[in-house]
Amino acid sequence: MRKTIIAGNWKMNKTNAEAVEMLTELKGLVAGIENVGIVIGAPFTALSDAVRAVEGSNIEIAAENVYPKESGAYTGEVSPLMLKSIGVKYVILGHSERREYFHESDEFINEKVKAVLAAGMLPILCIGEKLEDRESGRTAEVTETQIRGGLKGLTAEEAAKVVVAYEPVWAIGTGKTATPEMAQETHRQVRDVLVSMFGEAVAEEMTIQYGGSMKPENAVELLAQKDIDGGLIGGASLKAASFAEIVKAGK
Ligand code: 13P
Repeated sequence: MRKTIIAGNWKMNKTNAEAVEMLTELKGLVAGIENVGIVIGAPFTALSDAVRAVEGSNIEIAAENVYPKESGAYTGEVSPLMLKSIGVKYVILGHSERREYFHESDEFINEKVKAVLAAGMLPILCIGEKLEDRESGRTAEVTETQIRGGLKGLTAEEAAKVVVAYEPVWAIGTGKTATPEMAQETHRQVRDVLVSMFGEAVAEEMTIQYGGSMKPENAVELLAQKDIDGGLIGGASLKAASFAEIVKAGK
């Protein structure tokens, strides 16, 4: 049985005080939930405080990016070891905002996936098509290229540790959600690519999250789809109450 994982992606939001306040409230709201992975992605500055705030709870902390080198002259960057050493469990990689604003390629994202695994953390690899891709019927092709590029060279054992987040770019922050059927269709295509890369047994165990305007009102229906195993949530993860509702929809 693959694991349902509900993850928040705060993006460039929250001071440390705000992060601790939200997580303290969230802890109470999701206490005792054990069959759903609960993850919050926080900006670098808030990570240490976030890890401390969730200590002893069922919430795990993710970074939103990393640089794929151990150490050295890379001004302004943060290494996998730095994240691992403070208790970060997951790293969100290849988000469409990073692909778009920071020109991250599948090749570079692949280096990050490998570096995160080598450091003993778990990558959340984001993929997803733009509106023009969907409108020109290229969704399957685009997501396949991103999956193959992002996971290139991984063994099946390594791939089993990766969480994939399918986020149609046109649904991010727009209030437009893919219909459950539309999302399911792409999730199935993504899983088929994983089957061809790593075999059926591994692909069937990999968590594939949906992201893009997921909120309490649509989470139940999306999460009811056969190949949707969780969510990566932006806007609705900023408030403890709405995020907790989505976690409960994943139960
Ligand atoms: P929204 O939930 O705000 O659409 O953002 C989704 C997202 O980009 C999560 O990574």
